[in-house]
Amino acid sequence: MKHVPVMLEESLEFFKSKKMKTFFDGTLGAGGFAKALLLDHPEIETYFGCDRDKKALEIAREKLEYLGKKVIFIHGNFRDLDAFLKNKGVDQVDGFFFDFGVSSMQLDEENRGFSFNRKGPLDMRMDQKQKLSASDVVNHYSEKELRKIFKEFGEEPQSKRAASAIVKARKKKYIETTKELSDIITASIHKIRKKLHPATLIFQALRIFVNRELESITEGVKKAIQKLSYGGRIGALSFHRLEDRIVKNIFREASRPLKKIEGIQEIVTLPSLKLLTKSPLTPSRKEGFRNRRSTSAKLRFAEKL
Ligand SMILES: C[S@@+](CC[C@H](N)C(=O)[O-])C[C@H]1O[C@@H](n2cnc3c(N)ncnc32)[C@H](O)[C@@H]1O
Repeated sequence: MKHVPVMLEESLEFFKSKKMKTFFDGTLGAGGFAKALLLDHPEIETYFGCDRDKKALEIAREKLEYLGKKVIFIHGNFRDLDAFLKNKGVDQVDGFFFDFGVSSMQLDEENRGFSFNRKGPLDMRMDQKQKLSASDVVNHYSEKELRKIFKEFGEEPQSKRAASAIVKARKKKYIETTKELSDIITASIHKIRKKLHPATLIFQALRIFVNRELESITEGVKKAIQKLSYGGRIGALSFHRLEDRIVKNIFREASRPLKKIEGIQEIVTLPSLKLLTKSPLTPSRKEGFRNRRSTSAKLRFAEKL
């Protein structure tokens, strides 16, 4: 399935009034956002498009080929954005955008093992160069570790039950596929959520853990604020509570003056951000209806002071 960018119009609107020379897209994906932004901003001279997934970069490269050298494709984690920019001799960037999580292509491709709806190997790595996969975690981590992962990154209330069922099942047979895992979870936990597949939160937890997603967001967003030029804007689109909470806290902290006592002096550091969204924006009912993936989205924007 083609990836449809979520809250695209709302995101573009925040950049409309700005003239930008450089832009950093931390999650290039299929390049849908990139194409639309570059159409709105022909003045952009350099567009950095970063993605951990080599396959996503290939799709984006095809889509954006007509722009020539304007787009610089970076295969890597946006948490290292400072190093990428340094390498290109760039100190400040006029706009940043992050559209977290997985793309429809990643979910749809059974070989990537992201979805409980598809039969595939238990993989879930966004970057296929990475060693750790979901299968390593499921088959080798202790019951206690599994429970912690399911609780922390899936907020699964039945994490204990799921972890115990996995440990029991893997004693009999190595758990190799998404289907095997999904069946083990479905058989072990009580169906208390009517609308969610029983394995949803366990798969979410494993994906976030395997890809160290929350650490990347924390590091990437903080670095982006440092690298943003004065008057530049940063946007972040989250798809679940844990992602949005990180963005909210980092934006809030950067938008408050910081008071520090040094000796007998009080040192006040001025805020570095102005919040453009006090509460996050959410998709319209129409978009939620058209694109189910969008329903949990939360969009936050801020401007560098
Ligand atoms: C929701 S899709 C982005 C879609 C894109 N905005 C578009 O319009 O096509 C998220 C993408 O971010 C990538 N990604 C997730 N975490 C990343 C990270 N820490 N560093 C770089 N890319 C990441 C995923 O591989 C995926 O391709």
